[in-house]
Amino acid sequence: MPSLFRFKTRPRAPVRNPYHVASGSYLNLGYTEMTSAPTCRRTTEPLAPRIVDIRQLNLHQFQPLLQTESRAWLEDLHWDYAPSAEMISAYFVEKRLSGFALVEESVAKGYCLYFREGSKGMIGSLFTEPSVSGTDRACELLAITVEALFNFADVRRIEAQLPHFTVSQIGPYFRSRAFQTYLRQFMAFRLGINPANRPTANSRAGTGPQGVQGDFAFMPWDHRYDREAAQLLHHVYQNHIDAAVNNQYCTIAGTTRLVESIVRHRGCGDYLQQASIAAVHRTTGKLAGILGLTAVRPGTAHIPQIAVAAGYQGIGLGTAMLRNAFEKLARAGYTEVSLTVTTLNSGAVRLYERMGFRTFREFGAFVWVRP
Ligand SMILES: CC(C)(COP(=O)(O)OP(=O)(O)OC[C@H]1O[C@@H](n2cnc3c(N)ncnc32)[C@H](O)[C@@H]1OP(=O)(O)O)[C@@H](O)C(=O)NCCC(=O)NCCS
Repeated sequence: MPSLFRFKTRPRAPVRNPYHVASGSYLNLGYTEMTSAPTCRRTTEPLAPRIVDIRQLNLHQFQPLLQTESRAWLEDLHWDYAPSAEMISAYFVEKRLSGFALVEESVAKGYCLYFREGSKGMIGSLFTEPSVSGTDRACELLAITVEALFNFADVRRIEAQLPHFTVSQIGPYFRSRAFQTYLRQFMAFRLGINPANRPTANSRAGTGPQGVQGDFAFMPWDHRYDREAAQLLHHVYQNHIDAAVNNQYCTIAGTTRLVESIVRHRGCGDYLQQASIAAVHRTTGKLAGILGLTAVRPGTAHIPQIAVAAGYQGIGLGTAMLRNAFEKLARAGYTEVSLTVTTLNSGAVRLYERMGFRTFREFGAFVWVRP
């Protein structure tokens, strides 16, 4: 489950979102002359829309756009983006953001940010005001941003997950620049309404030797399990489609950062430690599964990660963890749980649909690898 949204606490990254990404290196990006980019619009019309380096704007020009974006996150993605927007504002004021803005009538109407983490470049945000008709402007913003990353010779890979746009809107641009496209789904489950939330034998995980949970103890996922969780993720996601979408899964260092991002850096909402699960195999004492939970808006929780170790898959542990999580969340007053999943991960999609999750938004993950 590669996470979407990624501005985190300082200094590793500025915004939260369901796609874990950035780190500190983007803070030191060299200035990229917008005039060197092929898609740059040159005009003498002072009021005509134009694309500029985002550091040329002041906060009054930029902040209304962030407010509009926050509303879009809340309405379209069931996610309170305000903390991320605040973080972006702070970085903006310090001129530490790298990216481009679409300016019309002296006000930002769209923007696109990028970061670098080692040899990886990430496109962290792409948003345009609803008043910007069509997607041509968004694609121009994308194009200038991608060109900026291409121009860094040490950038070998670029990843992007952009939930405000559908694949049909921005996929053609990415394909024209030789990016791979992966369809992803935002899914939600209504607690207390869907049948999967009703207690069943499996849902009493950890309370008795019934079904699969007799073999596993469901513990709150606290820091004691972080290291083993990173190892579990590394093993589970080998040759997995999500490792193609987010190459952090390919190394222990990467999965360690993913875990830290969820449990420590609020990279995907506020971590709910007591409701998050570390499923420990009672006989061996080994970590068999993990389910992370975060709070992303009042009443809405999010699952930034669920994984079951290879030897324990297919016996009902994932189902039991989900049901156990639903019960805890319902008791805590949550009414909804969301998650993101790559469509090609069809087994997981089937499981979620069987549990009662429904897709409410589809978007693209895009990956480019330097030939
Ligand atoms: C998805 C996953 C958490 C499910 O846990 P589980 O304990 O295997 O699931 P259960 O035994 O409760 O339910 C079985 C269902 O899970 C799904 N599933 C089983 N193995 C799977 C696998 N390797 N990858 C994806 N889904 C799988 C299938 O839908 C299966 O139902 P089916 O037999 O009717 O096809 C687990 O398989 C896993 O960790 N997969 C790899 C990591 C992953 O894809 N995580 C989810 C990212 S969004």
